[in-house]
Amino acid sequence: MNLKIASFEEYKQVYQQSVEQPEQFWEGIADNFLWRKKWDKALEWNFKEPSIKWFQGAKLNITENCLDRHLEEKGDTPAIIWEPNDPNEDHRILTYKQLHDKVCQFANVLKNNGVKKGDRVCVYMPMVPELAIAVLACARLGAIHSVVFGGFSAQSIADRIIDAQCEVVITADGSYRGIKEVPLKSVIDDALVRCPSVKRVIVLTRSHTGVSMIKGRDVWWEDEVKKVETQGNPDCPAVEMDAEDMLFILYTSGSTGKPKGVVHTCGGYMVYTGYTFANVFQYEPGEVYFCTADIGWITGHSYIVYGPLSQGATTLMFEGIPTWPDAGRFWDIVQEYKVNILYTAPTAIRSLMSFGDDMLKGKDLSSLKKLGSVGEPINEEAWHWFDEKIGHGQCPIVDTWWQTETGGLMISPISNVTPTKPGYATLPLPGVQPILVDENGKEIIGNGVSGNLCIKFPWPGMLRTTYGDHERCRTTYFATYPDLYFTGDGCLRDEDGYYRITGRVDDVLNVSGHRIGTAEVENAINMHSSVVESAVVGYPHDIKGQGVYAFVVSPNKHESEELTRKDIMMTVSRIIGAIARPDKIQFVSGLPKTRSGKIMRRILRKIAEGETSNLGDTSTLLDPGVVEEIKSGAL
Ligand code: WTA
Repeated sequence: MNLKIASFEEYKQVYQQSVEQPEQFWEGIADNFLWRKKWDKALEWNFKEPSIKWFQGAKLNITENCLDRHLEEKGDTPAIIWEPNDPNEDHRILTYKQLHDKVCQFANVLKNNGVKKGDRVCVYMPMVPELAIAVLACARLGAIHSVVFGGFSAQSIADRIIDAQCEVVITADGSYRGIKEVPLKSVIDDALVRCPSVKRVIVLTRSHTGVSMIKGRDVWWEDEVKKVETQGNPDCPAVEMDAEDMLFILYTSGSTGKPKGVVHTCGGYMVYTGYTFANVFQYEPGEVYFCTADIGWITGHSYIVYGPLSQGATTLMFEGIPTWPDAGRFWDIVQEYKVNILYTAPTAIRSLMSFGDDMLKGKDLSSLKKLGSVGEPINEEAWHWFDEKIGHGQCPIVDTWWQTETGGLMISPISNVTPTKPGYATLPLPGVQPILVDENGKEIIGNGVSGNLCIKFPWPGMLRTTYGDHERCRTTYFATYPDLYFTGDGCLRDEDGYYRITGRVDDVLNVSGHRIGTAEVENAINMHSSVVESAVVGYPHDIKGQGVYAFVVSPNKHESEELTRKDIMMTVSRIIGAIARPDKIQFVSGLPKTRSGKIMRRILRKIAEGETSNLGDTSTLLDPGVVEEIKSGAL
């Protein structure tokens, strides 16, 4: 079966078929990939345990799909185009042949350092080609990668390394982001104080900052590569994996305290990301595709690395930030590399929009053919700006809804196929069966309705478990509503059956497209010595989508209020990372609580949103007076 759908009529027909005969549908899609052995059974599942198995009995290695199978026809085609942070530094292009060789070489480095199938490897790196190489080299050997975003703190990294019991860490001396330099290795050193499982740290040279290399534990990437070169065998055969063997772990925030390790497996993830990439972006050979995400998040995993490479695409990787040296950087990149497909986030669009249209003057964006958005609901203003100023009204915009847990795109237009509507993720992709339910789990039928978004049938890219704690996977995603996967998102289905995601319905914030659990931020704030307790909620933020608003009880402040505020910010940066730092901190004498001690977040949310006129019923509060005080002190 063809991966790409050519018309809206065909979409409707294929969708229908994918619901009526899902196994058959996915088998047809999976036939487009390279398997060492095909499956015995397409699907076995129940959402009770949950137990989800796709393509059981099949054998493969995802890197043979992403690299080896393209060598004959596309050996000299660029696989990765890399644009450095500093526009004056040389860019790099790796063809499929070169990428294949480098992945094999580094897989041999990993082997020399004792890495084998099933081992967990933590990757904490800048956005350089070596990050993609490291990830693929792990996959080549069947080692399970756990990439941690370069903005997380030592403490967050340590938590993730301990949870996954990683034995090897791959990092760099430092990374560049705009004018900032982040001392990655030094952060790792702080993390490793708590991580006795780590036996080896491989350090890439990037920023040439001084680092401390511990004898017996730390080695340089370049030295290790040299050793492999002198050993003389450049090849590294891919390790044969079962379809349901783990491919990677990626940690993500939930509504409870600690992040969970979402687990994806080899076969289903490969099929799902490859299929959705080819179909949604309607990728044509020769096109240059630029996804502005970081490989530290799921978008980078699925749509910078695995999806595009399995389809033999040219994927552009950008090390820097959209606003440096100025807010025209993305457009310079589009112009220089004649980018055809641009996949970015609403927060980036809003931020660039705020610099005004002068930043677009003289930039040739005529190569662009297709646009995409991901990470949060896109507001209509940003949608129209993206459409008119970037796409010149000529490029379809795919507003793609999905999650770390779903592995790939779920509800999304197909470029040039699905009629779009600003703010709508539109329709489910083939194989995806969304349903809306009310609080009691009762299905909401018909159109012009809203409810909580669930999925009622498995798809190959879905998570299989949360690492080391299957029960947590069950309770988080499969227990709220029996026999359904619960997304945590609220959703509207309009008169045409189009879906519009309205945002999280749990205690998870979406700040600049990054998921942050309120409980996680509260735990971090509460670590500060002068804090008694705190409550964190989101509020609308022009650029970030949502900002972090913290109500903090701190009766014995050290020095001034302002300094305490800074101290609390520092604490959150240290415990989680700068991405979780509150935008606003309001000191309060107490939090609004019910008689049973539960914080009434609904009230705090309204105050943070500036909607203080109608706070609803406050009579059940233990101390209704506290609300007046909080209201009058609102920031
Ligand atoms: C939100 C990112 C509206 C949503 C791929 C989801 C979106 C969470 C969209 C997952 C979209 C993502 N429209 N909301 N197009 N895309 N979201 O795991 O709340 O980092 O649950 O995955 O982002 O975030 P995650």
